[in-house]
Amino acid sequence: MRLMVKQSSPPDSKPSAQRSAVRRGETMRALSANLFALLLVCALASVFYVWSALENHLERHKRDFSVPGRGSFHQGPSEDLSAKTFRALLAVPAAQRHNSGARSEGQNLTNTSAFMGTRDYHVNGDDERSAQREGPVKLGSPVDDRIFWSDWLEDLLPVRFTEGYAEVWRNKARASPVVKLEPGCGRISNQLATFSDGTKACVRYGINADQVQGETLTYYLASLLGITNLPPLVLSHIGDSAQWAAVRTRINDLQWSDRAVVSLTEWISNLTGVVTPAPLRQESSGLHPALKWLENKTTAGLLELMQWSDLIVFDYLTANFDRLVSNLFSLQWDPHVMERDTNNLLKTPYGDLVFIDNEAGLVHGFRVLNMWEKYHHSVLSSVCVFRKRTTQRVAELHRHRDSRRRLLELYRDSEPLSQELGFLSDEHAAVLQDRIDRLYKHILHCKGKYSQL
Ligand SMILES: Nc1ncnc2c1ncn2[C@@H]1O[C@H](COP(=O)(O)OP(=O)(O)OP(=O)(O)O)[C@@H](O)[C@H]1O
Ligand SMILES: [Mg+2]
Repeated sequence: MRLMVKQSSPPDSKPSAQRSAVRRGETMRALSANLFALLLVCALASVFYVWSALENHLERHKRDFSVPGRGSFHQGPSEDLSAKTFRALLAVPAAQRHNSGARSEGQNLTNTSAFMGTRDYHVNGDDERSAQREGPVKLGSPVDDRIFWSDWLEDLLPVRFTEGYAEVWRNKARASPVVKLEPGCGRISNQLATFSDGTKACVRYGINADQVQGETLTYYLASLLGITNLPPLVLSHIGDSAQWAAVRTRINDLQWSDRAVVSLTEWISNLTGVVTPAPLRQESSGLHPALKWLENKTTAGLLELMQWSDLIVFDYLTANFDRLVSNLFSLQWDPHVMERDTNNLLKTPYGDLVFIDNEAGLVHGFRVLNMWEKYHHSVLSSVCVFRKRTTQRVAELHRHRDSRRRLLELYRDSEPLSQELGFLSDEHAAVLQDRIDRLYKHILHCKGKYSQL
């Protein structure tokens, strides 16, 4: 149209009114064109904005789903996807989310003296031992007497929580007021508590009473077996005004019942994640005395493996599915799960493994045994090297068939709130004894299998 006007009558040859009308028309057209261009740019920008927001949202959603309340040691995009899915399978209905407080209650491997003494607590270790731990293996074979970790290796093991250390901590924890409760120990039902002297503990309120009971009895079973990788634990009554008075408002906000009995475990600084060692992964032949791979390990690597052998024995006995076993389960949809940090297992800078979050053990673990047993069995079958002391204690408990009595006595003698929290049912105590017997047989089987070594 503009072209037509130009051709028929150049603007200069028109009267001014007509020229200005033409100019007005041209201005309007130019404005419309600009407006249209602007609208087009806006529309494109909106499409781009909506697209990026959608992408961000999807990414955030993926992250939220993957890392629900994880600490900094658990990374990787799909690790917690499996953990979450696995948790969802076992979720306890919300109605049960309160802590009700009170509950009812062949060959001989034992020819050495039954229970050995405990070691000293050493945070740094002496320099000589530290140097030996870091260096290559100089002290001979790591395996002794067919299926046992060698004594020289045992002597180098750093022991974080000796019985003496744990007792001192427990006494202090019982007598110390809590002055702060904050997030920092995982889920909201776990809180990081600060005592009046500035030291800290993880408080576990428990999704239900089974879990506090599982955590506590598992701790005492470890003690019975001489396994010193669990931070010291005490029970506390939330209604205890002397201990909880300073954080009463926070307790109300958390909606914790005054009748609840919670567990407190020592909070340990500078912990890092731990990846499952190669021989214990699904594609491997297992951890056994003939393993060539052991020959190339550093002393520190061997010391870690020695603790893994205890972990596997311990998780088998307690039927704790919330560590290695849950990883095996997750392999169904997450083939890389074994390459990431193991659930509920951490390590100090000195090389001691710390077994945290044992609430799935014994009580809950026994209740859902049908679902997990094939995984427990498979993990136990992958290990044929053991610590002598652990084996001796398992052998004693097998021989006397008195695991229920011994665990109950230790728990009652050590924990003033034991009556209030209750103990294993007879049925579960029998399951524990049965697992001790099965473990004993498995150790004998290993001894027979590697008899030529
Ligand atoms: N005793 C402890 N000392 C130091 N840090 C701890 C301790 N207990 C727990 N934590 C920290 O809290 C995190 C979560 O702990 P925990 O497994 O007990 O809780 P959770 O609610 O089960 O969490 P998750 O679902 O990640 O397993 C650990 O990874 C660790 O960072
Ligand atoms: Mg946990």
